[in-house]
Amino acid sequence: CGIVAYVGKKPAYPILIKGLQRLEYRGYDSAGVALINSGTHTYKKMGKVKDLDDFAKDQKVTGNIGIGHTRWATHGEPNDSNAHPHTSMNGKFTLVHNGIIENYAHIKKELINRGYKFQSETDTEVLVNFIESIYMEQKVDAEIAVRAALSKVIGAYGLVISCEDEKEKLIAARKGSPLVIGVGEHEYFLASDASPIIEYTDQVIYLNDEDVAILTQDDLVLKNIQNDKQKPKIQKIELSIDEIDKNGYEHYMLKEIHEQPTSIGDTFRGRISIDKTKIFLGGIIDVMPKLTQAKRIIIVACGTSWHAGTVGEYLFEEYARIPVEVEYASEFRYRNPIINQDDVVIAISQSGETADTLAAIKMAKEKGATIIGICNVVGSSIPRETHAGVYTHAGIEIGVASTKAFTSQVTVLTMMAFMIGRKRGNLYDDLYKKLIHELTLVPEKLEIILKSENYIKGIAEMYKDATNALYLGRGCLFPVALEGALKLKEISYIHAEGYPAAEMKHGPIALIDENMPVFVIATKDKSYEKIVSNIQEVKARSGRVIAIVTEGDETIKNMADHVIEVPDSHESIAPLLTVVPLQIISYHIAVMRGCNVDQPRNLAKSVTVE
Ligand code: G6P
Repeated sequence: CGIVAYVGKKPAYPILIKGLQRLEYRGYDSAGVALINSGTHTYKKMGKVKDLDDFAKDQKVTGNIGIGHTRWATHGEPNDSNAHPHTSMNGKFTLVHNGIIENYAHIKKELINRGYKFQSETDTEVLVNFIESIYMEQKVDAEIAVRAALSKVIGAYGLVISCEDEKEKLIAARKGSPLVIGVGEHEYFLASDASPIIEYTDQVIYLNDEDVAILTQDDLVLKNIQNDKQKPKIQKIELSIDEIDKNGYEHYMLKEIHEQPTSIGDTFRGRISIDKTKIFLGGIIDVMPKLTQAKRIIIVACGTSWHAGTVGEYLFEEYARIPVEVEYASEFRYRNPIINQDDVVIAISQSGETADTLAAIKMAKEKGATIIGICNVVGSSIPRETHAGVYTHAGIEIGVASTKAFTSQVTVLTMMAFMIGRKRGNLYDDLYKKLIHELTLVPEKLEIILKSENYIKGIAEMYKDATNALYLGRGCLFPVALEGALKLKEISYIHAEGYPAAEMKHGPIALIDENMPVFVIATKDKSYEKIVSNIQEVKARSGRVIAIVTEGDETIKNMADHVIEVPDSHESIAPLLTVVPLQIISYHIAVMRGCNVDQPRNLAKSVTVE
């Protein structure tokens, strides 16, 4: 979900709507705004921010203070009444909230006993009424009521609330769900991330967990829930407005696919020596002894980041020769895992906010493991919890289906695998230098692949009406198969599965017929002969094979229905090259099917609930 709020001298409504549009990638089931003027006017609509604007713009939207929200439903289906903002029963408070109040059922029961009635099924409505009940019963200031309520709440929140009796102010609080304050001249902005703020100011304050901010147009007071004053730390944000525009591309996803030569370059820039003989990852220097002597590396992540982690597993075991386990953060955290002090846990997360990944590392930290983060969003929650980390520096990613964040994560993992391998004496000088050199060639090789976009689009056209698709790969290209399948199902709603190529004969082979596209990642590596056999198995059942191959591969060209060539490279680098044609195919299939590529149904970019 996304929050935006404004207090200042300007009309709040346009700032809120524009801000919500910037944040829409975080959730887009429904949206709403509340404008505080003579009274509080709330407008909410199921659907996109545009639907909200169409509905609200001709109504009373005056006022220099306001709060807004774009929602990804957790409690309660997406509809007008479940949309935020929520107002308390006696109309004293209006609230927008991200996160989940876990003990909401208990609080709701108590409030119902005290005569409260509810209009929605959301935990947020419970929270706003809980705050009001304290405010009215204890006759305290709004801020005291907010802090008192939050100290009894279990769960996660990022929230902004207004009080009818203290109209000049907004109160914001954070625990587990991000909030940023933008500092302007006689004005403050509040948002879930900096993207709605940067066109007005580059001065921001990131709230910490349990911070409470009280804002008027000329004043900011920062304290924690216990009422201890906190010193606001103003930082300059690096994000530029160009980065959050589509830059002439039809969709953010397409722009981000095309940015990969640059984003991967940004990931390794300054971390590989000019003469290409050394890798230096400054963010993990302090934990290098732990890492090189680790008995085990556990990688925790969700979604696409989990796929990057699985590529990492192959590379770490190959070069670092340390056993690796890759875990879905949601499973790992709940199964009482065995964690020792000589384990290193690596959390991979684009947003740095994914609730399950965050909880997993907190638990592993308590059990004594060393925690390393690989995150994209600077200053987000996961990097703050870790002992050390490497930012991917891919730049802001807005398309909900992750593309450039994935390749940057894989780039970091590749550098780490090579570096640990070298430190542990597993990589001789020549091979180490060759591998580093190969990695630095990725941007130019990707430029070549991107030039074949039209050809790849032609293949997409042929398979756009498929109902199922299979993706096959071996070794470190197996996770690329998983990622290819995920991209297709996320944005085109075609059912797709990724499988280790040899495992196909233990199940999915039963699905293969002349209507089944099978994408095979089959670049030249040590299992090349094996995957050629797998292609023959598919062809023998009349499946349609689209193979991603090393340029000049005549053998597979003669067998497959289509081949997409990628430049020759060392096999450890192949995941970075081969995933890109699969991203392009999914993108074009989704566009041809009329799907909303940047905001696929039911998904959200940043999942801050478990
Ligand atoms: C959501 C996003 C995915 C992402 C996953 C993990 O499901 O839609 O694109 O891979 O969360 O997010 P993270 O920010 O932790 O990488």
